[in-house]
Amino acid sequence: MKRSILITGGAGFIGSHVVRRLVVNYPQCQITNLDLLTYAGNLENLKDIEHLDNYYFVKGDIGDERLLSRLFKEYDIDGVVHLAAESHVDRSISDPLSFIKANVLGTVTLLNACLNHWRGSTESLFYHISTDEVYGSIVAPELFTETTAYDPQSPYSASKASSDHFVRAYRNTYNLPVIISNCSNNYGPCQFPEKLIPLCINNIRHRKPLPIYGQGENIRDWLYVEDHARAIDLIFHKGKEGEIYNIGGDNQWKNIDLVRLLCDIVDNQLGTTNSQELIEFVKDRPGHDARYAIDASKIKSELDWKPSVSLEQGLAKTVEWYLSNEEWLKHVTSGQYQEYYQELYSKR
Ligand code: NAD
Ligand code: TYD
Repeated sequence: MKRSILITGGAGFIGSHVVRRLVVNYPQCQITNLDLLTYAGNLENLKDIEHLDNYYFVKGDIGDERLLSRLFKEYDIDGVVHLAAESHVDRSISDPLSFIKANVLGTVTLLNACLNHWRGSTESLFYHISTDEVYGSIVAPELFTETTAYDPQSPYSASKASSDHFVRAYRNTYNLPVIISNCSNNYGPCQFPEKLIPLCINNIRHRKPLPIYGQGENIRDWLYVEDHARAIDLIFHKGKEGEIYNIGGDNQWKNIDLVRLLCDIVDNQLGTTNSQELIEFVKDRPGHDARYAIDASKIKSELDWKPSVSLEQGLAKTVEWYLSNEEWLKHVTSGQYQEYYQELYSKR
């Protein structure tokens, strides 16, 4: 059992679910959340647990060597769950360098901090959270397995693939104890409304168009975020050092079908009708990957994990959350969020 865990990117979408889960489930462990609070990081996501004694928040950059050195010494970190990253494909197309900085340089700086502090200890663990997008696009009925060759197609997936390779290289070269997991598309509460599902919920709410890239034929394999957080907990505590685990929901949907279902769920909860009429087909994303689909049989058989939430249930919960958290949506979309956060944080 790791005693002092550093979670990076814990104020983001998936990270906040992971932080909550580990803080609550492991009160004997100290959990330090290191997050730069970019546009995607939001301390409101963790309001309910921030008072707990085993939780610490540190605002900072994973690329800040001095800060990392101080944190590793001060908290005697023996486990890292690394989620911090720039995460949106469309942003990576307009600004690839910021993805290299955060996802590649940031990860390598963090790996160096582990190496310097752990000095060969085999009791420690660097757990790197990655994506199925590193495998590129796959034709049905094939699925991505842990041995599928990397073939990243977007600047985002290229930066994640690069960071995965560095993690493997640090194990191979310096014996750093590591695990990597590659997960499919997540959805659920607290996802920044630039990603497909929260963007559409927000737009339906405000009767704005729902932009579908191309013909909406692209396929993604969707997983409810709590199921991912549970898999991360399991892998961190029970996974085998040096292994790769694919995580996925067995839930492949064409974008257009998913958005139609989402419209019906929002209509049902809001009492509106015909939200599907808001759908607009727009210019396709450059280099848009046609299909992602995960074979999760390894984590299922070795760690006894399986998704617990169906897409219909997960979408209903997600819609309910967004509709009852309008303030959250307003803050993150208003552009005043940084100021709001600064004020919140300076009072602590
Ligand atoms: P997110 O964009 O919601 O959150 C990222 C968090 O990282 C934010 O809180 C941000 O402030 C922080 N951050 C960014 N750069 C940082 C830096 N330099 N130093 C410290 N903190 C920094 O992302 P997410 O969707 O929660 O994804 C989390 C991780 O999971 C990422 O590594 C992503 O590649 C991976 N992943 C995401 C999905 C998905 O569907 N969202 C699927 C598989 C894997
Ligand atoms: P997204 O949520 O950005 O995740 P990713 O690109 O990492 O898979 O997009 C999910 C799918 O939805 C992807 O095929 C692109 C498509 N999409 C749209 O059609 N319209 C949109 O406005 C967005 C953001 C995505």
